[in-house]
Amino acid sequence: MGVSKSDAIIIVGGGAFGLSTALHLSRKGYTNVAVFERDDHIPPRYSAANDLNKIVRAEYEDPFYTELTIQAIAEWKTPLFAPHFHQAGFLHCVSGDAPQKAIDTLNRFRASAERDAQIKPHVSSLDGEADIRQIAWQLDGPLPGWNGYFNRFDGYAHSANALAAVYRATQGAGVRFFLGEQGAVDEIVYVSTVNGRNCAGIRTKNGQFHSAALVIVAAGAGAGRLVPQLGQQVVAKSWSVAHVHLTDNETSRLRGIPVTYARDLGFFFEPDPKTNLLKLCPMGGGYINTDPKTGVSHSPGTLSDSAFIPEEDETQIRKLLAHTLPSLADRPLVKRSLCWFADTNDSDFIIDYVPDMGSSLMLLSGDSGHGFKMFPIVGSWVTDLLEASDDKQSLVRWRWKQPNAKAGQDWGGDVSWRLGASKELSSIMPRKASKL
Ligand SMILES: Cc1cc2nc3c(=O)[nH]c(=O)nc-3n(C[C@H](O)[C@H](O)[C@H](O)COP(=O)(O)OP(=O)(O)OC[C@H]3O[C@@H](n4cnc5c(N)ncnc54)[C@H](O)[C@@H]3O)c2cc1C
Ligand SMILES: *[C@@H]1O[C@H](CO)[C@@H](O)[C@H](O)[C@H]1NC(C)=O
Ligand SMILES: *[C@@H]1O[C@H](CO)[C@@H](O)[C@H](O)[C@H]1NC(C)=O
Repeated sequence: MGVSKSDAIIIVGGGAFGLSTALHLSRKGYTNVAVFERDDHIPPRYSAANDLNKIVRAEYEDPFYTELTIQAIAEWKTPLFAPHFHQAGFLHCVSGDAPQKAIDTLNRFRASAERDAQIKPHVSSLDGEADIRQIAWQLDGPLPGWNGYFNRFDGYAHSANALAAVYRATQGAGVRFFLGEQGAVDEIVYVSTVNGRNCAGIRTKNGQFHSAALVIVAAGAGAGRLVPQLGQQVVAKSWSVAHVHLTDNETSRLRGIPVTYARDLGFFFEPDPKTNLLKLCPMGGGYINTDPKTGVSHSPGTLSDSAFIPEEDETQIRKLLAHTLPSLADRPLVKRSLCWFADTNDSDFIIDYVPDMGSSLMLLSGDSGHGFKMFPIVGSWVTDLLEASDDKQSLVRWRWKQPNAKAGQDWGGDVSWRLGASKELSSIMPRKASKL
């Protein structure tokens, strides 16, 4: 019970976890909350959630997260969030060529959906193209060997718009925002105490010091730079994102399609009616950017280093389109990028105080690429922790993990729902044009 309702609280990061925290703190009556974000606007270009859509699916292999998503979906239907939530359904399949690991994962997801009394009535089995076209006639490709299930309980969120809505709501509720030069946090500032050190505040790029009773770091893939004590327990990792720019007619034709996912290929969403963009993600082990000196992966400093996707991912996206929407398979892929998130080796979040700092520094991290669906409720986990009488995270799985020196390079590759091992960014970067 470190902070009082009027103490200064600083949140570093105006992405999904940071904004949700600002919202819940202000709802609980904390009156002195400031968000520091390095981009000069929200949604920030650096946020993994600055995106057209994110899957909101409730069935997890682990019932703990299923339960949380059911809570989150109830919140997605409340006035602040509802305009950004689309319960379009989730068409979850494997193609006929899928490796056994992808089939096994699909089956575990299906079993989870069928185990849950609230979700089960929304689930139906899909065996072959005819079943799939019953759900989405627009998928007029050959769908070779596709099978799986459809879950009407699930859908997607327009994540960039949801961030913008919570930004406006929290600003209106008195949360202060520091953006750009004033918001880029260079370092956490500490003071010595008899027991070691406590966090005293932050210093921004422009040299300003801001003191706070509590600093909450919600910096996504940037956490490791601010809190190096994290070591290898969080790995900055990225996946590819690309889009097809549709005509008005094509966008209208695809209106209402479910989130369409082949575990061995990737997934896409209903196109965005404002921009006519159809977003696609290939499935794979992702890309890391390991500092050889420390063995820790960080996201690259500039956006331009991530403004591409590797050829193998483009090939996979085109295969996904050839299976489902073949008229789009040879279209240009636009707005290509690598999207960075904070991965843990067991996909569990970290929602905890940094140890031995007198509860003055909290970390929200380890979203592991599945955190956005929780956007409406993440901040309630922070207020729960603030109210814990012993200052302890009661959920052991969300505690700070002591860094494991032996954890090696392809760490996280064994998580059951991932397919393939991570590669180094340096091995896939396009060759810079020679400056002769
Ligand atoms: C390709 C991809 C697909 C995904 N798909 C899904 C999905 O379908 N469903 C789902 O639920 N989740 C999905 N996710 C995960 C989801 O995007 C993340 O879980 C979520 O965005 C994490 O929120 P965050 O606040 O931790 O990080 P972010 O949203 O990335 O926000 C971190 C913010 O901190 C800021 N920051 C960093 N360092 C500093 C600093 N020093 N000073 C000031 N500000 C700083 C950054 O600029 C950024 O705005 C996906 C992620 C990726 C990459
Ligand atoms: C959209 O489709 C209609 C009907 O087929 C057609 O008349 C119209 O020209 C199309 N619009 C564009 C911009 O292609
Ligand atoms: C994950 O890392 C932690 C230490 O950070 C270690 O204790 C744990 O055994 C690892 N788990 C897996 C599944 O590798």
